[in-house]
Amino acid sequence: MSFLVENMRREFGGCAGNIAYTLKLLGGAPVICAAIGDDGAEYRDRMAGFGIGLDALRAVPGSFTANCHITTDLDDNQITSFHAGAMFQSQVNDVTAVDNIALGIVAPDGRDGMFKHARGFASKQIPFIFDPGQAMPAFLGDEIAELIGMADYLSVNDYEAEMIAQKTGRAIESFAPGLNALIVTLGAQGSRVYTDGRMVDVPVVPASALVDPTGCGDAFRAGLLYGIAHGWSVEKACKLGSLVGSIKIAERGGQNHNFTEPAIRARFAEVWGERW
Ligand SMILES: Nc1ncnc2c1ncn2[C@@H]1O[C@H](COP(=O)(O)OP(=O)(O)OP(=O)(O)O)[C@@H](O)[C@H]1O
Ligand SMILES: [Mg+2]
Repeated sequence: MSFLVENMRREFGGCAGNIAYTLKLLGGAPVICAAIGDDGAEYRDRMAGFGIGLDALRAVPGSFTANCHITTDLDDNQITSFHAGAMFQSQVNDVTAVDNIALGIVAPDGRDGMFKHARGFASKQIPFIFDPGQAMPAFLGDEIAELIGMADYLSVNDYEAEMIAQKTGRAIESFAPGLNALIVTLGAQGSRVYTDGRMVDVPVVPASALVDPTGCGDAFRAGLLYGIAHGWSVEKACKLGSLVGSIKIAERGGQNHNFTEPAIRARFAEVWGERW
């Protein structure tokens, strides 16, 4: 099959890059633990330019950096091909070798890397969020339950929550008592937090424009990480996630939104009537 494609654009993406990008904007100190290929220098330099920690970034010779081609027709039907490349070697990394980690996130990555990083955080008693996302098909029900069992937080969208329930044969809420918090994001419906035996709904923040939802989940997680790492309640952290998700949706791609630290602090207080 062959298509003539008139317009083309290229975006930087991937969960680690997206999350680190927003977390850095918020004033956090993200360290990316991921694998890139022979073509990864441009992306690495871009991240370095933002001041994102790259000590745990590894190059896998003879591979490409994970990449995805999406062809969209005039009716918005899409054909996607994803090449994992270096990502399937992400177990070359070792999170336990990174110093001074306050909080981790095991987000979609190669299966072996996700297991290794979860075990690494657990062995060093570094709290972490498990975010299986698009990697869900790589795990059996028992494996998902094992990974959740090692984690302190579980963050999924509504579709992923349903997949976990199907794979494990357990209602998603049944995982909450074993966690500090279970967070289920619901797109335009906001998010639902299960923590301390309670359930709290966090509304969305109205967006200035609805341009592209891609990467809203990653932006939300950056807010969640920032808040939890700074000792905020999970509900307050989700309010920050909701705010940055609404800012992200007004731009195409996962790394084109922008704000300054003073601006986001002021906006947070304005939107939620709560101090940063
Ligand atoms: N239409 C919207 N308006 C405002 N905020 C939104 C909207 N859609 C999503 N958000 C915010 O972003 C959060 C995460 O979105 P969502 O649940 O769609 O994540 P996701 O499905 O993991 O997204 P993706 O995987 O595409 O990044 C939501 O909980 C919400 O706070
Ligand atoms: Mg997602």
